[in-house]
Amino acid sequence: MGPRLIIVSNRVAPPDPKGSPAAGGMAVAVKAALKNRKGLWFGWSGKVSEEPDAKPQMIDVKKVTYVLVDLSKNDVQEYYNGLANSVLWPILHYRGDLQEYTRADASGYIRVNQLFADHLSPLVGEEDVVWVHDYHLMLLGRELRARGHRNRIGFFLHTPCAPPDILQMLPLHEQIFGGLAYYDLVGFQTANDRDNFARYLTARGGKPVRGGEAYEIDGRQVKLGVFGVSIETKTYMRLARNAGRSAMIALVKESLGGNKLALGVDRLDYTKGIPDRIRAFERFLEDNPDWRGKVTFLQITPKSRSDVKDYADIEREVTGLIGKVNGRFGDAAWTPIRYVNRSYSRTVLAGMYRAADVALVTPLRDGMNLVAKEYLAAQDPQNPGVLVLSEFAGAARELDRALIVNPHETDGVAAALKRALEMPIEERRERHAPMLAHLESHDIGRWAEDYLSALAEGRTSRRLLDSLRVFFGTQQGREPIATL
Ligand code: F6P
Repeated sequence: MGPRLIIVSNRVAPPDPKGSPAAGGMAVAVKAALKNRKGLWFGWSGKVSEEPDAKPQMIDVKKVTYVLVDLSKNDVQEYYNGLANSVLWPILHYRGDLQEYTRADASGYIRVNQLFADHLSPLVGEEDVVWVHDYHLMLLGRELRARGHRNRIGFFLHTPCAPPDILQMLPLHEQIFGGLAYYDLVGFQTANDRDNFARYLTARGGKPVRGGEAYEIDGRQVKLGVFGVSIETKTYMRLARNAGRSAMIALVKESLGGNKLALGVDRLDYTKGIPDRIRAFERFLEDNPDWRGKVTFLQITPKSRSDVKDYADIEREVTGLIGKVNGRFGDAAWTPIRYVNRSYSRTVLAGMYRAADVALVTPLRDGMNLVAKEYLAAQDPQNPGVLVLSEFAGAARELDRALIVNPHETDGVAAALKRALEMPIEERRERHAPMLAHLESHDIGRWAEDYLSALAEGRTSRRLLDSLRVFFGTQQGREPIATL
């Protein structure tokens, strides 16, 4: 049968015949990693079933088999809403104060990681490479090892990784974060995330080995590396060029009546800094009366994780703030902020990006943020828009010609918005061109290739390494973006 790439993630996005959007950045990245590879994508079906132990559903599409497991209501509550999204998510985003830890949720998280391993274990062939994604499945590597698998097993964290003092706020941190040591390679978005985790391991008695590229802890060795996730740059550029000419985008432009368009696109999540951004827009209108009636801020915000309390709270806050700004500055012919709680297809979104004069990407903390990358790829290089980008998004480490802001500083974001709206075309082009060139050379294909070749390297025999290189289509001699 030959080696396969087995991807495991909480959510799986099997191809949708209606072409609906994939659920977020991780899904898009995984799809790209599987492109042209023989593989399997394993995860939660998104369905709740009273028979969670039933056989997983298998769907074959071209070279990829999608394997979908149902979860019980209790599993979803304790694992997904509970430990993953009410505890790990805030902690990894530096908000340990928001965690709502319970022992029941921790047990649910461990149980679902074991359930995934039980279902996956019989499907793993000896030569397969397993690549686990994100904070929901930190213990899967350990569970697969416990079931006897000696394969290359890697993990990639799509979120930020907080410093050790914050990671230690998790009551079971030694078991859960320590579980990452059972992987051969743990990948992070930025050097800062990797360094935070390395310091966490050191604080727990871990020692750098193999010239510092790996750490030894509790008798195991784990390699740490940096691989900034990216987009399908070329494809996205083409998509946006065509979408920019679509009837839907013509309608949007017409509805603006010649106004400039500032755009925000985020899941409704407290890490995205949406309230701070609205306050900055309000400050901009306060300080710049000439711009009133001449710019529209469109905030596209699909709802997310609505069963978690903090998400219900952020929804109320955002709705209230937008109502306040629209009531204060709007008039019968102009609504300052348009607010939309839905997701759009990839194509429509690409067209919106192309039509927007400014993108406001101002998260309080973000692993990477692919909206920033997609916005740049969607621009007309002859007349590009301006990216206003939070210094706390992983993307800011790469996209340094954006207008970099501190999202906590209302005045600073308001001033950056004014600068962006008034920026001369030469400066817009000068800033956009090097960032686009970077995205062309560091696209999603390279991300997958760099990660998988780093996973294949190490203690593996030279012969196996060479065959893995052929399998992954990796080029000899190309260095990973960075490895510790
Ligand atoms: O890393 C966070 C992430 O997995 C994103 O890649 C994705 O956009 C989002 O979370 C999806 O969240 P959920 O599956 O909870 O809706």
